[in-house]
Amino acid sequence: MDETTTTAALPPVRHWPALDLFGVEFDPVLAELMREGPITRIKLPNGDGWAWLVTRYDDVRSVTNDPRFSRKLVVENDVTRLAPHFVPVDGAVGFEDPPDHTRLRRAVAPAFTTRGVERLRERARLLLDELVEEVLADGPPADLTERLLGPFPLAVVCELMGVPPIDRPRMHEWTNLILSSAHGVERSQRAKEDMCAYFADLLSQPRDGDAGDDEESVIGLLGTAVANGEITASEAVGLALLIQIGGEAVTNNCGNMLFVLLTHPEHLARLRAEPAIRPRAIDELLRYIPHRSAVGLSRIAREDVTVAGVRIRAGEPVYVSYLAANRDPDVFPAPESLDFDRSPNPHVAFGYGPHFCVGAMLARMESELLVDAFLDRFPGLRFAVPVEEVRFRRGALIRGPESLPVTW
Ligand code: HEM
Repeated sequence: MDETTTTAALPPVRHWPALDLFGVEFDPVLAELMREGPITRIKLPNGDGWAWLVTRYDDVRSVTNDPRFSRKLVVENDVTRLAPHFVPVDGAVGFEDPPDHTRLRRAVAPAFTTRGVERLRERARLLLDELVEEVLADGPPADLTERLLGPFPLAVVCELMGVPPIDRPRMHEWTNLILSSAHGVERSQRAKEDMCAYFADLLSQPRDGDAGDDEESVIGLLGTAVANGEITASEAVGLALLIQIGGEAVTNNCGNMLFVLLTHPEHLARLRAEPAIRPRAIDELLRYIPHRSAVGLSRIAREDVTVAGVRIRAGEPVYVSYLAANRDPDVFPAPESLDFDRSPNPHVAFGYGPHFCVGAMLARMESELLVDAFLDRFPGLRFAVPVEEVRFRRGALIRGPESLPVTW
């Protein structure tokens, strides 16, 4: 850290341990940091030193949209963090700054526009219908994580990417290994290399040149961008990896959505009775659900910047908490309550600024289809075990139920 910073004026450094929380319980350490805020200092389980933490909605939006904070610089520093490992690959948009960041995102943008996502909706609906039919045919009870929440987003993201159905299981396995710390850093690193090799191979295969679905898949778009010299082959591989991994965020988020609905029967009944409010309800669920553990990627100040009245010095790392911003009472009255009538609801569950989630529209589309399926295809849906026996992922960066045993 900068030795010239006077410690006397600084808030204390709070240790933020990795907590395995149940359900959608809001992290008590984060709640405490929000009370101490608006800007505090934290030390996470891995990496070196401390970092600033910004929790208020306006401050979160201003930091994430301020080019004086860099993601690229994070790669060169062992910033205090939750993840035990991160070895970013070339083309990892999360660790890029404009203009390279903009160039990379532009290469895949058509797949993620409203048109790009709507093009996939019917195919996604069919894929989900097939899975639902199988669950219904087998009868209750069923683990919906295993039967729907896992396979559906995986199938959709593979469609979007242009990954053949036969390769879905290994994509799933690699994603789990990359995102989990449970199997050790080396195993994660190997999975990352295997996935990169797979995408390098897929990208090097000659495309049939037949304009259509193939050209509009992410792999098709990346192939074109490489051929046009807009991005390098290794950037294309890195970008493919990140999108493929990101795709499975829906498994956890929608798992939490279902958990919330099953533990809020009056909300669930209302969504059954009033299908028209489902898109609005999904936004409120997105706001309400603590999607991740602790915080994600930091940013490093390129120069001195004042945030919430505190001077952040050049070189110091800063985290924002989108989870905390989504509970800011100045923007969301009664933030702890799940309110399907909340309007406006300018939540930042998908982030803010240039790093705003690439897959936000896709995630919304998949969430809509999944919530429709839960409500319309499974009348009387309820847990098959006492709620306290539902198991949640441990040691995970992204929070979600490990399994959802239900009956109907
Ligand atoms: C409900 C599900 C999802 C949630 C809550 C979510 C949330 C987020 C958040 C908070 C960020 C980080 C913003 C930042 O760095 O400041 C992000 C980034 C990202 N997400 Fe998602 N995401 C979801 C689904 C998806 C899906 C389905 C995909 C891909 C198909 C995806 C791909 C990405 C990528 C590639 C980034 C990095 C963007 C960049 O740094 O420019 N996400 N997401």
